[in-house]
Amino acid sequence: MAFIQRFIEKMPKAELHLHIEGTLEPEMMLALARRNNVKLPYQTIEDVKAAYRFSCLQDFLDVYYLGMSVLLTRQDFYDLTLAYLEKMARQNVIHVEIFFDPQGHTSRGVSFDTVLSGITDALDQAKCDLKISSRLIMCFLRHLPEDEAFETLSSACKCKDHIYGVGLDSSENGHPPSKFQRVFDQARKEGFITVAHAGEEGPPEYIRQALDLLHVQRIDHGNRILEDADLVHRVAKTGMAMTICPLSNLRLNVVDDMKKHPLRQMLNAGLCPTINSDDPSYFGGYMTENYLAVQTALDLDLDEIKQLGRNSFTGSFLSTRDKQSALQRFDDFCQKFS
Ligand code: HPA
Ligand code: ZN
Repeated sequence: MAFIQRFIEKMPKAELHLHIEGTLEPEMMLALARRNNVKLPYQTIEDVKAAYRFSCLQDFLDVYYLGMSVLLTRQDFYDLTLAYLEKMARQNVIHVEIFFDPQGHTSRGVSFDTVLSGITDALDQAKCDLKISSRLIMCFLRHLPEDEAFETLSSACKCKDHIYGVGLDSSENGHPPSKFQRVFDQARKEGFITVAHAGEEGPPEYIRQALDLLHVQRIDHGNRILEDADLVHRVAKTGMAMTICPLSNLRLNVVDDMKKHPLRQMLNAGLCPTINSDDPSYFGGYMTENYLAVQTALDLDLDEIKQLGRNSFTGSFLSTRDKQSALQRFDDFCQKFS
C-alpha cells in the first residue's frame, strides 16, 4: 500500500459529522428486527443492500427512517453506538462528535431517555476502554414543525450533562434554517452550542441563515458555499470548520463524480473543511474509507491530508486544553511517521 494510504489509516483523526442511526449495518438491522419482532420489507442482507440506491437526500432519508425502526431498547442504542466506536478505535479515530435524531424514535413510542441512556452508556465505556472522547449533538428533524422541535429541546434541557449542542438535519429543501430561529435562540439561552446542515442540497442562502439566524459554530456539509464568493470570503475569515462527507456526497448525488468533489477548491479558498462519514453504513465507508476515496479521486498530497487531519481537531468542540493536547499528538504522529 502506498505511503499516503498507510498515513491516512494510522493518522489520529476526529470525526465531526456522524449520525449514529446511520451506522446501523444491515447485519445488525436484521438481528435487531428479529430480537424486537419488528417487520421490515427485507429478508436478507442482499435485500437491505439493494435498497441503498439513492438519487437524492430524500431517497436516503426514507430508507434511513425505516432502518432505525428496529431500534427500541436502551440495549439496542448501546449496541449500535459501541459497534461504531469499536470500528473507530481500529481506524485511529480518537475523538467523535455524534448526532442523534430523537424525533426519529419518540415518534415511534421510544422514550427520549431510552435513546439517550443507551448512547451515553456506550460513550462512557469508550472513554474508558477505547480512549475515545466524544460530544453528543442532538438534531431537530427540519421537516417536522417548530413546536415538536421545542418539545424535543425541553427533553434535552433535562439532560444537559450529556448533550453538548443542537443541530438541524433531514430534508433540507423547503425547510430553511429560519423555520427554527426561535428554537435555536432558546437552545443557545439554555447553553447549547449550535450547528446545522446547510448547503448540502439547499442554496447558499441557507448557509447564510444558519450563520445569521441560528448562530452556528460549524457548518455541516456546506458544499454549495462555493456558489457565493462573498460567503466563502466571510466563512474563511472566521476560520469556521465545515464538515464535508465525500462518500455521502457521491451517494446522494451532491457530486456526480468524486473527481469533481469541491474539497480542494475549499482548501484553496482558505476554508476549513474536515472529512467525515455522515451515515457510513448507508454510504459505503467509515472515516478511513472517506479519506481514501477523496485522496484517490483528487490525488491529494500529504500536506493536504495533514491539513484535513489537523482541521478535524481545530474544528472540534474539544476544550482548549484537550484540543492542544490532541494537536500535539497529531503533530508528533506526523513527525514520526514521515
Ligand atoms: N443530511 C440531512 N439529514 C441527514 C443526513 C444528511 O446527510 N444524514 C442523516 N440525516
Ligand atoms: Zn449529516
